Amino acid sequence: MEQEECANEEGVTGEPHGPFQLEQLEACGIAATDVKKLREGGFYTVESVAYSAKKELLKIKGLSEAKVDKITEAATKLVPMGFTSATQLHEQRAEIIQITSGSKDLDKILEGGFETGSITEIYGEFRTGKTQLYGLNGADVLDNVAYARAYNTDHQSKLLMEAASMMAEARFALLIVDSATALYRTDFAGRGELSARQMHLGRFLRSLQKMADEFGIAVVMTNQVVAQVDGAAMFAGPQIKPIGGNIMAHASTTRLALRKGRGEERICKIICSPCLPEQEARFAIMPEGVCDVKD
Ligand SMILES: Nc1ncnc2c1ncn2[C@@H]1O[C@H](COP(=O)(O)OP(=O)(O)OP(=O)(O)O)[C@@H](O)[C@H]1O
Ligand SMILES: [Mg+2]
Repeated sequence: MEQEECANEEGVTGEPHGPFQLEQLEACGIAATDVKKLREGGFYTVESVAYSAKKELLKIKGLSEAKVDKITEAATKLVPMGFTSATQLHEQRAEIIQITSGSKDLDKILEGGFETGSITEIYGEFRTGKTQLYGLNGADVLDNVAYARAYNTDHQSKLLMEAASMMAEARFALLIVDSATALYRTDFAGRGELSARQMHLGRFLRSLQKMADEFGIAVVMTNQVVAQVDGAAMFAGPQIKPIGGNIMAHASTTRLALRKGRGEERICKIICSPCLPEQEARFAIMPEGVCDVKD
């Protein structure tokens, strides 16, 4: 995770730029004790409250239905969530910033780099450079990175909540989840647990999207692949597909597939994007990290 000096604290219109601190609910008539309960329940910003289903808020200890209604009303007053005009939508798009991947060619097909406010998934076989591809080159950025290792899927979700609390305190620009699905494969074995696995994964991915919206960060997650064994494989050779099925496919806004080229060369293909054409770019993995192919 990369922490950055806030580039656009003020929006285009000069209005304060989110996220709203949870305490701002107090100015809207919510008792300080209830704000504290929200915080203890893992909600750190007004956005996180506004974007949550009522059911989620009712799970918080000590909050009655009447209180939850009042809190939701206050939160949705602060956070605009209704229809907006196309002009406003255009302004919101202008606030999106791109974080470099480290390779100029790759940044070019991504039209700048990894986008804030959405999830980018990078999948590929082992050693294709998924972990390398974060644009975290150089020692200067390392001081601004907070890192944690997840040991199981529940722990992974808990770490995400901790990350949210850190992001409510200080400005971060990028959240990286390396091997997002790996622990799901070990925690949930076999077909019998498939639906439980997909539900858990779905919740995790929804939290990721919520954080992208809430904090305006770029979320980049890597994913492993499995060989697809079906009829088509007989003709087209072994095909690979990313783990996580439809739930994963729908969660990521942009999907990138990596494959090996010659030597240190890697090829990245845009598989799925709402606004970018399907294209390929080459990059190289060097001792310094990801860079352009020299030829
Ligand atoms: N210092 C280095 N100099 C040159 N190449 C390196 C260096 N460090 C790593 N690599 C190359 O980077 C590749 C590994 O990339 P990376 O760890 O990002 O793969 P990955 O896709 O995350 O794999 P996995 O699925 O195993 O996590 C290897 O091919 C390795 O040779
Ligand atoms: Mg890796």
